[in-house]
Amino acid sequence: MDPKPTVGKASVLAPANIAFIKYWGARDLARTVPANTSISMTLAHALSHTTVEARDQATDEVLLVDEAGELRPAPEGFATRVRGHLEALRGRLGSDAHFKVATRNNFPSAAGLASSASGFAALALAVSRALGLEPSLAELSVLARLSGSGSAARSVMGGYVEWPAGPSEAENHAVPLAPAEHWPLADVIALVEVEAKEVSSLGGHARAASSPYFERRQELLPARLHAVRRAIAERNFEALGEVVEEEAIDLHLIAMSSKPPVFYWNPGTVAVLERVRRLRREGLPAYSTMDAGANVHVLCQPEHQTAVAAALSALPMVSGLVEDGVGSGPRTTTHLF
Ligand code: PMV
Repeated sequence: MDPKPTVGKASVLAPANIAFIKYWGARDLARTVPANTSISMTLAHALSHTTVEARDQATDEVLLVDEAGELRPAPEGFATRVRGHLEALRGRLGSDAHFKVATRNNFPSAAGLASSASGFAALALAVSRALGLEPSLAELSVLARLSGSGSAARSVMGGYVEWPAGPSEAENHAVPLAPAEHWPLADVIALVEVEAKEVSSLGGHARAASSPYFERRQELLPARLHAVRRAIAERNFEALGEVVEEEAIDLHLIAMSSKPPVFYWNPGTVAVLERVRRLRREGLPAYSTMDAGANVHVLCQPEHQTAVAAALSALPMVSGLVEDGVGSGPRTTTHLF
């Protein structure tokens, strides 16, 4: 890639994603090289909105949009992570520009709804565009992964996405499996926790291999990956749902049996899981999955979305729903400043 010295401004919306087969544990956490291949569905409505302006100054400025719509300096922990990603992007893109960055999410941050995936995918894309670059999808995926959030590598593209564990470290990137139009699945997210979780997913990856079940899951994964690819290709919802639910339980089994253990679930999580199993007994096909958090993504076909949403919102421990579905990936939008 040949970076042009353009000082520009760009704004993008990038979506979160929900993993069907989870990235959990790394071969090289510092370089975000995963222990296993993962597969996800990119969402349509859970979005990070990010504006980046390249500027001739020696520092980066990181701002968040507050509830009143005002720009405020980001909290130090968040700003440090963004600056780290900007530094890595400068290195990869061969640029010495610094940036003014502003960002907001339209969904609860850091609660297991993949805010790092959408946020860092948005940052990678907006920085590239502010520098006048149009990287390929593969290169964008590498750029997003440099944030340290592996799931961000999948959020730069729409539809159904696979992130193979195999390729060489520097070129490790996600690939599209099928576009959103191939299979319009819905995802009703039951919010049972909107506070930030106590252990970040990075903390979870770091200790995953200490679980006695970590190695066993690696043995089970080739068959699961095959089943998920096939279910997507054939649009077989029951086949997909069974594996996805099994995978989610195993991710949390590993988290809960890591040393020290991580418990992401709360009583609301268990109530939603139970309700979804009951929905199936009542004849409604719906399946649960959770990332590294308490909130539950309930996958269903669009014709069942209204009934699933009604059943979940009737649960006393569910404080709200985010009704989402498969989406077609990042897009250009209005500037935040
Ligand atoms: O992208 P990270 O490093 O925040 O890790 C994501 C971990 C899970 O969300 C639990 C699984 C996944 O593949 O998205």
